[in-house]
Amino acid sequence: MLQGKEILLGVTGGIAAYKSVLLLRELTKEGANVHVIMTKSAQNFVAPLTFQTLSGNPVTTEIFTLFASSKIGHISLADRADLLVIAPATANIIGKIANGIADDFLTTMVMATRVPVLFAPAMNTNMWASPVVQANITRLKSMGYHFMDPAEGELACGTTGRGKLADVDEIVEDIKTLLYPKDLAGEKILVTAGPTEEAIDPARCITNRSSGKMGYNLAMVARRRGAEVILISGPSCLPVPCGLPTIHCTTALEMQQIINEHLEEATMVIMAAAVADFRPAETSKTKIKRLGTHCLDLEPNPDILAGIGKVKGDRFLVGFAAETDDLIDNAQEKMKRKNLDMIVANDVTACGAGFCCDTNIIKIIERDGSVHDFPQMSKEKVAEVILDHVVAGRKKMKKES
Ligand code: PMT
Repeated sequence: MLQGKEILLGVTGGIAAYKSVLLLRELTKEGANVHVIMTKSAQNFVAPLTFQTLSGNPVTTEIFTLFASSKIGHISLADRADLLVIAPATANIIGKIANGIADDFLTTMVMATRVPVLFAPAMNTNMWASPVVQANITRLKSMGYHFMDPAEGELACGTTGRGKLADVDEIVEDIKTLLYPKDLAGEKILVTAGPTEEAIDPARCITNRSSGKMGYNLAMVARRRGAEVILISGPSCLPVPCGLPTIHCTTALEMQQIINEHLEEATMVIMAAAVADFRPAETSKTKIKRLGTHCLDLEPNPDILAGIGKVKGDRFLVGFAAETDDLIDNAQEKMKRKNLDMIVANDVTACGAGFCCDTNIIKIIERDGSVHDFPQMSKEKVAEVILDHVVAGRKKMKKES
C-alpha cells in the first residue's frame, strides 16, 4: 500500500525508540523506502546499525552528512520524501521544533521539508500533561503539523497513564491517511461488514462464515481517502478500527434499523455484510432439548439493500454478491433487482476468495454491464480497487445528472 513512497523516520531519545524498529519493519513490508534520522540521544537506546540493516539505507546521525548527489544532506532528503514521521517524539524535540530551534539533522530537516510531518509522542504521563508540552503541541498543530495521541498504559518509568507510543499499526494507518488522495472527500458512506446472527435459542443461532475483513478494509480505505464513514458491523472478532465510528449489531433487523437511522445523511452505501436471509420464526427462551427430530420454521429477513435501492435518490449504492455458481449472471440479476450502481461478485467457493481469508478474488460489474476482472489480492488492495471504481462511477453519475 506504500509502494514507491519515500518516508523519513525521525527517531528521538526515549525508551520507545525500540518500537521505531517495528515501525520501520511495517513500513518496508508495505513497500515504502525508509530513511532513518536519529538524534544523538536516540543512539543511546538503539544502534544506528539496526535501522541501517532493516531499511537498507544509510542512517543519518550527523548534521553535515553529505549525499552522493553532493546536495546538502537535509535539503536532498527533504525534497525527495513523501512524509516525515517522528516516532517516538520526545517533549524535547516537540519543544525545539515549536520554538524554531534547528541544531541537529532532524530539526533542520523538519524546517527544510514541505511534506506532511507526523509526530507520535511518547513520554512520561506528567510530562505529557504539562502545560508547556501541550502549548507546544497546540502551536505546532496550528502550523499544520500532525499529531497522534500517545496511548494509555504502564510506562517504562513505572507510572501508569497516557504517554506510551501509539500502536505501530495505528501509526502506519495515520501515515496512510496522510498520504492517500482525498478523492472521497465530501462523501458520507455507510459500510456494512460481517455476518448477522439470528437466535434459535439462548445457545444457538443461524449465522455464516463472514469475518468482517472485507467490510472493515473498505471502511478504513474509504476513511483514508477522505470520506466520512460509519461502519455498521455484525458480530466480528476484529478490533474496531481506531477512531472509526462503528455501530455494532447482531441481527438483520437490527442492521436494517441502524441503516435506516443513518440513511438520510448518507451519500453512499456499501453493503459487504453477509446478511442472513432467514431467521427462526420463533426464538425459544430456553435451550431446545435434544428429543429426536426437531423442525425449525424459518421466515425471510428483509432484503436490506433492495429496500435502500427503492429510495436510492442520488446515493451511490454498492452491493456484493456471494456466489457459488453462475457468478456473473447471478450478480447481474442482483444488481438490477436491488437497483445498484455497482456489484462486487465473489465466488465464495474459490480458494483465496470470500469468507474469512485475508484475500479475495472479485469481479466488479457496473450498471452499464461492463465487467472488470481482478486477480487474487489482499482485502485491503481489493478495497482500494473497489473504491477506485466507486470514485469513477460517482464522477460519471454526476456528469450524467
Ligand atoms: O467478511 P469476510 O470474511 O471478509 O468475507 C467477505 C464476504 C464474502 C462476506 C463479502 O465479500 C461478500 O460477498 N459479502 C456479501 C455476502 C452476501 O450476503 O451476499 P448475497 O449475495 O447473499 O447478498 C447480496 C447483497 O445483498 C449483499 O450486498 C448483501 O449485503 C445484501 N443483502 C443480502 C441479504 C439480505 N437479507 N439483505 C441484504 O441487504
